[in-house]
Amino acid sequence: MKKKYILGIQCFATMDSGACIIQTSGESDKYEYVAISEERLIRKKHPYTFPLHSIKYCMEHFKINSLNEIDLLVSDIIREPVWHRSGPSYNVKEFDYIKKIFKISEKKIVQINHHLAHAASVYYTSGFKNSGILIVDGNGTDLETNSFFEGKGNKIKLIDKYNGRGIGILYNVITKDCLNLGTGGEGKTMGLAPFGRKNKSILDFSKVKYDGIVTDYSSILRRLPFSDIISFSGGEKIKKLNINLPKRSKQSNILNHKWRQIAFDVQNETEKCLIHLGKELKKRVKSQNICIAGGVALNSVANQKLFDNTKFKNIFVYPACSDAGIPFGLCIWALYNHPLFKIKKRRRIFKLKNAYTGKIYEDKKIKSILKKYNIQYNSLKINKIAEYISKGKIIGWFQNASEYGPRALGNRSILADSRNPHMQDIVNHKVKHRESFRPFAPAVLEEDYKKYFKIKQPSPYMLLVAKVIKPKLIPSVTHIDGTARVQTVNKKQNKIFYNLIKNFKKITGVGCILNTSFNDAGEPIVETPEDAILGMLNSKIDYLVLGNFVIDSKKVNKLIKKKIVKDREKRIQSNEKKAIRSLTKNYDYKDRKKYFKKETKNAYWNTIQKPFFDLKNQIKNWKNKNNKIVLFGTYDETNLLLNKMEGFKSLNIEAFMPYKHFNDDINKRNKVKLPFKTIRKISKKQIDSEILITSYEFCYDIEREIKLKYPMFNYFNYYNGYSRNLSNYFKINKK
Ligand SMILES: [Fe+2]
Repeated sequence: MKKKYILGIQCFATMDSGACIIQTSGESDKYEYVAISEERLIRKKHPYTFPLHSIKYCMEHFKINSLNEIDLLVSDIIREPVWHRSGPSYNVKEFDYIKKIFKISEKKIVQINHHLAHAASVYYTSGFKNSGILIVDGNGTDLETNSFFEGKGNKIKLIDKYNGRGIGILYNVITKDCLNLGTGGEGKTMGLAPFGRKNKSILDFSKVKYDGIVTDYSSILRRLPFSDIISFSGGEKIKKLNINLPKRSKQSNILNHKWRQIAFDVQNETEKCLIHLGKELKKRVKSQNICIAGGVALNSVANQKLFDNTKFKNIFVYPACSDAGIPFGLCIWALYNHPLFKIKKRRRIFKLKNAYTGKIYEDKKIKSILKKYNIQYNSLKINKIAEYISKGKIIGWFQNASEYGPRALGNRSILADSRNPHMQDIVNHKVKHRESFRPFAPAVLEEDYKKYFKIKQPSPYMLLVAKVIKPKLIPSVTHIDGTARVQTVNKKQNKIFYNLIKNFKKITGVGCILNTSFNDAGEPIVETPEDAILGMLNSKIDYLVLGNFVIDSKKVNKLIKKKIVKDREKRIQSNEKKAIRSLTKNYDYKDRKKYFKKETKNAYWNTIQKPFFDLKNQIKNWKNKNNKIVLFGTYDETNLLLNKMEGFKSLNIEAFMPYKHFNDDINKRNKVKLPFKTIRKISKKQIDSEILITSYEFCYDIEREIKLKYPMFNYFNYYNGYSRNLSNYFKINKK
């Protein structure tokens, strides 16, 4: 039976860059897949590079020699549905150049909505027959932040969406620009939050308004995007906030009252926001089930609050719910929806078996590596390792295939005793070299989870949070607020890990151990046996378990470290060269230079000039036809057009309808007097008019309102998801 392959990659240079391949064959609805994030393979966190290594890794897994064997390449859409440019104002040119010379026929490329890929990743692995699907992230296609979908049978339907600004980006801005916890530091903010207190708020969310799917943070947050070609190239930065926030210097202790309170406040708001969205989704679907994905779904505390405070009976959160899971979402969407994979019977929805999507490193391979570096080892005896843990030893645990997403679930883990009250400090300082407040998760036998945690259902992917019933029994996995991010483990999902915990229980009576990801601070989770050996050498891990071998760290010559690092670097470089050769046609430096020059020019034009010329053309059209125009926008932007925009004054303007009586600059209290009749709603009298949206900040909100309240009207919006405000154009083009 001929096998078919779907390759999924993100369309833009993301920090979560990666790839997935799904294999299917004939009339069977079963499928196999492999997925990996690029950072694991190139040993650089948040790489923003084209996933050359990931694609090769996935191809090798299925023994695919050439891209010709791929039946369909699925990618997402961020700014516009174009394959070659991730976004017209984007600056990551290398990523796009590789796409330009990628050796695949363009006829085989399909692009879909980013949130639809998130939705597919979670619904098609939920095992549910129907479900409400909630997607919340920083930004998806055309600045989409919140989306409601409904899954029925094997179809997913969009119910509603909201663009522009949401809780994901607010959490990101506070983490990065205020708490100074770096790119991808949202988990740290979540860990810090319980150190703050209720009723001591520093951040004021009282002006935030929720209305259905709309979570309007405009009182705090500016609309996206926050970076473009201009800011990338050292030009004027985009203002992100409407409020002033302090920025923590690296010297300022993160546990100072101010910082932990800010973390508390933004976490508290996130929980409120997700509960609201969960309740709204429940109103719009009949299902008792909810699926959640998108970067915000990594917030396990908020997931749990949503579940506890809504009427959904079952919840499923996809383990790689951030953009790391997009490549899989793209592939699985195509499997269920693209005509190329249509089969006679209806495809069933299978429940995700586990999150181990990487490739397996066999014992033979591990043995040869140990031999190469002259590392002594013993055979694995599970009860011995359990005993070590019970005696306070720290174990590096490397088994089978790596996990998809940011959580280590017992295949690339560091393990320790959950009962030891000092273990949190020891592992944070000596092993992971990270902040002392960061909590650790418990891995608990599935049959025992109710003994230790107040939680309604198993949580195999560490994406739910529960109150710890006896915190004194398992102090090293109990957070300051008495909760834990639980991983339940059963035999089917991970036999060897289950057996280890079972053995630990035999010795100690406690069926629960500390489980944290196997990586050093600032490093990706280990992928290969070599990465794991280096991980051991860089920390105070006592024993490293590699497949069926055990290494005592005291017996390892530390001098091999240099050689392993060098060999690994060489291997990564050679893999890259090989990948470029086999996946692209004629990587040519001259051509690349020309491409960069052309695309940079293009990007500048799209960012700054496009809104001006689009509006200019529209004005010309309207003038020729003598159309009646109603302005729907803000005072300051409308005034800007009045003063600076060619031809604007001579338009046949019927009236001005202010959006919520706002200025684009929300802090400017004074509203300019405009020489138009001001109206509060558009009446039937204006039916022969067209609407011009005169706002940058609120153009998406206004567009939404027009679609809802005035669907019969034509409207024109000269801004899009990558433009800068017109004032930038006028500043540059001063006469
Ligand atoms: Fe996303």
